[in-house]
Amino acid sequence: MSELNQWNAQLYDKSFSYIQNMAFELIDRLSPEAGERIIDLGCGTGLMTNEIRKKGALVEGLDNDPAMIQLARERYPYIKFMCLSAAEFQTDVEYDAIFSNAALHWMKQPDLVINRIANALKPGGRFVGEMGGAGNVDTLIKSLFQALAEIGISRDEIDFPWYFPNVDEYTKLLEKGGFRVDFIQLFSRPTPLDDCANGASDWYKMFADQFLASTELKSREAVINRATYLAGKSLCKDGRWFADYTRLRFEARMIVF
Ligand code: BEZ
Repeated sequence: MSELNQWNAQLYDKSFSYIQNMAFELIDRLSPEAGERIIDLGCGTGLMTNEIRKKGALVEGLDNDPAMIQLARERYPYIKFMCLSAAEFQTDVEYDAIFSNAALHWMKQPDLVINRIANALKPGGRFVGEMGGAGNVDTLIKSLFQALAEIGISRDEIDFPWYFPNVDEYTKLLEKGGFRVDFIQLFSRPTPLDDCANGASDWYKMFADQFLASTELKSREAVINRATYLAGKSLCKDGRWFADYTRLRFEARMIVF
């Protein structure tokens, strides 16, 4: 595991736990029952996995970040955690449900991921999730693009790391994958960055690594500082930072033939 990964996992845990804390409502939508076999896809450091377990479900966590999985295993040794990408996940077990919070937007082959999920579910099994949707973190992204443009780096040079679908697009993908979509909604959720001492700057340091990785930057710090200044014009109010999150939340069920 790289040191950067380790730092990210710890920073994620310390300053970005709101991502997991905001998912309690999503667990209500999942409504896990005792004895159900469930996967928490993109489980991060395992907080939500453990919440699902508290309902009596036989839950397992899956994430492709070794540092996150290591923390999850240390914290919840009684839960099985798998270090693997969703696109590679194959199983003979038939699960009752797959849950995913704030992870699917990192998976840029959504059709393949939906296919893997469908294969892991039993007929009638549920897929309940929430991810960044169309328009997510627009101001944060535009500010970063502008800061890069000012030092001569164009959008074409950036390997955009995220997938933020709209309702129609994701509904079609789910239906193509064999699901009936019972609920899907795109909504704006300005998210306070209260645990980030440096507001958007910490957000960029945590999440924009991949965004900046494809460029040769003389000063990553200077780009982040400039993007933070630009983003602050609309995202920082009376010293309080809000990330401009837009969520796509859904509940789907494998069609029974
Ligand atoms: C999100 O949860 O929407 C998100 C988190 C990190 C990077 C991009 C989006």
